[in-house]
Amino acid sequence: MSFIKDVFYRKPIDKIISESENSERSLKRVLNASDLILLGIGAIVGAGIFATVGTAAVGDIVRPGAGPALIISFILTAIACGFAALCYAELASMVPISGSAYTYAYATLGQVVAWIIGWDLIIEYAVGNVAVAISWSGYFKELMSGLGVKIPEWLTTDYRSAFSGSRIYEAASLLAGGNSMEEVKTLYPKAAEYISEQLSSGQTLDFILSSFQHARNAVIDSPRIFSLPIIFNLPAVMIVLLITVILVIGIKESSYFNAVMVGVKLLVLGLFIVVGLFYVRPENWTPFAPNGWAGIHAGAAIVFFAYIGFDAVSTAAEETVNPARNLPIGIIGSLIICTIIYILVAAVLTGMVPLSVFTQSNKAEPLTVAMNYHRLNWIAGIISFGSIVAHTAVLLVFQLGQPRIFFSMARDGLLPRSFAKVHKRFRTPYVTTILTGVFVAFFSAFTNIDEMVDLTNIGTLFAFIIVCLGVIILRIKEPNRQGGFKTPFFPLIPILGILSCIYLMLGLPKITYIRFAIWLLIGLLIYVIYGYRNVKLITREEK
Ligand code: ALA
Repeated sequence: MSFIKDVFYRKPIDKIISESENSERSLKRVLNASDLILLGIGAIVGAGIFATVGTAAVGDIVRPGAGPALIISFILTAIACGFAALCYAELASMVPISGSAYTYAYATLGQVVAWIIGWDLIIEYAVGNVAVAISWSGYFKELMSGLGVKIPEWLTTDYRSAFSGSRIYEAASLLAGGNSMEEVKTLYPKAAEYISEQLSSGQTLDFILSSFQHARNAVIDSPRIFSLPIIFNLPAVMIVLLITVILVIGIKESSYFNAVMVGVKLLVLGLFIVVGLFYVRPENWTPFAPNGWAGIHAGAAIVFFAYIGFDAVSTAAEETVNPARNLPIGIIGSLIICTIIYILVAAVLTGMVPLSVFTQSNKAEPLTVAMNYHRLNWIAGIISFGSIVAHTAVLLVFQLGQPRIFFSMARDGLLPRSFAKVHKRFRTPYVTTILTGVFVAFFSAFTNIDEMVDLTNIGTLFAFIIVCLGVIILRIKEPNRQGGFKTPFFPLIPILGILSCIYLMLGLPKITYIRFAIWLLIGLLIYVIYGYRNVKLITREEK
């Protein structure tokens, strides 16, 4: 039975803390409460509020939109995140170690669950950043084209999006040229199906053609190597590599850089709210919920992406001064500030313009679309710039968080020990920082944003559930442990946290569950082949 005993081994909290204090593998303590709140806002406000909020309002081909009831979606998600934030605050102040949910799971639910969560957090941090980098690249392209610099399409999209979009374009041109839908179906079955749906929802062929022109151009203009088209997202790769270099150099410098970017994005969202208020017409809020509760629920599952990040504060635990006090302030404070901003933005956005202004092709820039609608083009320009800055800040915090989780796993032996190396001069976990940078850069070059957002949401909700469960287990197993912060109304809050996260998960498309299950299975396989054995080996050596 030793295998079962090993895989469910719970690492004592005191042991976790004393191991982290080993000077060779420890980080510099420099961050205070306000640094952490800024770090949290840096991670939270990004692609979610500037881009995915459009999909939440109008929906897409697989889900209905919330309409002006978007504000309810935001409140619903904020409540679920609030429960999880309280649980994170308790565990982070009790176990102030850079591994976040991974470390909490190791202390409460055992080694194999810890491994699964560590593996799952790659989805939240690294895959989430892939989505943000792709969205960053879209805004960057727009900004450059506004300045007169045209970046070729084949350098700003991914292979699959380019080819599937190009097929839709070709199918639509055949229809426009007089071919029947039946003929087009034999050549391009999937594209024809999509076009039929669009036409029946009131779109025109011209509109479809112009929406997919860029995908078509990417395929036609791409250079070829042995007749293989070269298509990838260059700006996404560049920004990820730049951020990786900044993070290897040092955390204090990065935290200063982050504070400046947070200032810019708060100013820009403030500008949107104040200017937008003058254009709010209450008639735009009716009908309030055009797709009823189904739209609100689907919207909540999407805008969840906008809230991810308050939990990332916990990965800076080992670089925090007085973590028992400052971590809860950082986690809960940043969530409250962002919730207020989001609710105001949602109310102003849906009050400023009729919903029909947003289409499938412009919904990724909803705030600028609303400003342009009122001919406030220069304000739209400022918002675009702010959006790029906001995306950059998110990339920075998540690129900072992922290596620290790997770092904790390596210190425990679940990953190779070389991953836990700290740079002699910069005192940063450089091996894992570079590794994360290469992973995110590679996938942001070749993947599709929508799939990455859904995957990030399911992975993060799963981590939140484990954290809520961790609080319950810890209180039962170690009722006398003293920590800085205690979740109020125990066990009600953690239980509500678990239930509300499951409810949000149910709003995601089915294919996301399949992808997530495959990812977890691969992780389990690696654990059995490598992680489990390596921890055993190290434990034996240390005895
Ligand atoms: N909350 C982060 C964003 O919206 C992930 O970009």
